[in-house]
Amino acid sequence: MSRRIIKSLPDMGKARNRMDSPKTVREPLIVPPAVAEFGKGRAYLIKTFGCQGNVRDEEILAGYLEAAGMHRTEIESEAGLVIINTCAVRENAEDKVYGEIGKFKVNHQKDPSFVLCVCGCMMQETGVAEKLVKSYPYVNLIFGTHNLSNILSLLDERLARKKDLVDVLSYPGDIVENLPSIRLDAYKAFVNIGYGCDKFCTYCIVPYTRGRERSRAREDIIKECQELVEEGYQEITLLGQNVNSYGKDFHDGTSFATILEDVAKLGIPRLRFMTSHPWDFSDEMLDVIAKYDNIMPCIHLPVQSGSTTMLRRMGRRYTREQYLDLVRRIREKIPGCALTTDIIVGFPNETEEEFEDTLTLCEEVKYDAAFTFLYSPRKGTPAAALEDDVPDEVKHERFNRLLKVVEAGVMSHSSQMVGKTYKVLVDGPSKKNERVLSGYTETNKLVNFEGPAYLKGQIVDVEIVEDHAFSMIGKLTKDPLIILAEKAAESLKEEPEAIAFLEAKKAVEESPSLIELRGQIEKAQKAMVQKAADSDDEAYEKAKNEYLSLMNSYKKDPVVLNYEARKDDLEELLRIVKGTLS
Ligand code: 5AD
Ligand code: SF4
Repeated sequence: MSRRIIKSLPDMGKARNRMDSPKTVREPLIVPPAVAEFGKGRAYLIKTFGCQGNVRDEEILAGYLEAAGMHRTEIESEAGLVIINTCAVRENAEDKVYGEIGKFKVNHQKDPSFVLCVCGCMMQETGVAEKLVKSYPYVNLIFGTHNLSNILSLLDERLARKKDLVDVLSYPGDIVENLPSIRLDAYKAFVNIGYGCDKFCTYCIVPYTRGRERSRAREDIIKECQELVEEGYQEITLLGQNVNSYGKDFHDGTSFATILEDVAKLGIPRLRFMTSHPWDFSDEMLDVIAKYDNIMPCIHLPVQSGSTTMLRRMGRRYTREQYLDLVRRIREKIPGCALTTDIIVGFPNETEEEFEDTLTLCEEVKYDAAFTFLYSPRKGTPAAALEDDVPDEVKHERFNRLLKVVEAGVMSHSSQMVGKTYKVLVDGPSKKNERVLSGYTETNKLVNFEGPAYLKGQIVDVEIVEDHAFSMIGKLTKDPLIILAEKAAESLKEEPEAIAFLEAKKAVEESPSLIELRGQIEKAQKAMVQKAADSDDEAYEKAKNEYLSLMNSYKKDPVVLNYEARKDDLEELLRIVKGTLS
């Protein structure tokens, strides 16, 4: 009898057909008892390839596994469950995945209960799951992007039936909310605003692997972002394959501009978003970005090619001129806005003239950063069926020419930064040197500078001292301890006790009857001192009684009583803060 059950296999032909709008389901998380038993004390490891969307999926998978009692490890030999979360966008990402899978054969030999899962975009391609089953028989669970939230029930089924499973759906189902999640960063968070893509650029596999465009409900996005603000997150990046399409499926006027504004109003210090398609980038979006200081002036705007004929073959829906016009509008409405991009070199039959159009566009736009890719044919996409007469050497030579032009553009911005001070959100100590911190400016420029690890998660002022084109060297403009003390004072001001105290203090200072009373007390005090100096005991006694009686009325005034009570509350809060510091 086979030790594997194929529940479903994907079909990219079917995936191309869009389905009706999905509903949202909000179900409580249930951990099947057998999975809880399996999870007890078990270490898990997730290896993620690809984009931020996959990173967010990893966080959700981790949420399910930790709900089942497992804990994270980075040590491969320790892991009792491994998930390889794959990317399909280019072939080289796929090659790496096969290497990774091979590594975990030994875990099975050590631990018969070990489970190896492979999931993500690559599993959505026709034929990949079958290939894995044949060549890597020690893979225990294969699932796709559309049934990630079934991980615990798939594990349960595998435990119950004692057989390996393959379950990859061709279509996305409902939008699942209340997803558990263990975030990988304590200060920067990704929030999905929608899933899938309906653009079908001719080279791209994403519309097949991620399914039709579907927006998350506004209230679910707001709730998630609100919680992040309350938890002290400093930065949210709204994620979608194509954020501009957000809300179009609701047909009620909701758009990316409206959700962006709603999230900005929640007060997160930094708000970013990606990815924007140049085709339906509205002026309303630009207005919202320009209006809110906490929306970072940085737009990732993949151009892919600077040639109108090539853009048409790529199915991009805009011309070179329309793209350049959008760049002009962005720079007009958001001065200083950084622009980054993606470019593909070597799309089938790219002519020298078309390629040069890309070079001149880059010279004109001067991107702050550009991700350049050699075209990689993806089976099942229209471009993969095209004959191509351009030799590989020509493609590589063009790629190198493009890199030089991109670098010149990047340097035109970075060289201007030297000597100026920028706000940098500190990611923490850099990988190479723990005394060096790294972080990003508002325009997403990487800056390295000396500083203590406790500044992680703070937004600090850094002066740029050296330009390294793709990253900068800087120095803190203030002593790190002073930065921390100032932040502590600032955040205390927002505590309810501190707010109530400041209000009560203001009421005491501004109350007309108390101002009058304070004047009388001052006079009585002076009179008392005078009578004492005169050695007039009787008059002194009278003045003293007058003073004490005025003081008594002052202390009993309800406004003053409230001030004293609020002061006690604040002192109690400060005692707690002091306790946590010492
Ligand atoms: N080959 C090379 N690059 C690709 N991209 C998408 N599909 C391919 C492909 N088949 C690039 C695009 C996209 C980025 C995420 O990956 O530039 O914007
Ligand atoms: Fe792929 Fe184009 Fe969709 Fe981007 S917009 S995910 S490149 S199909």
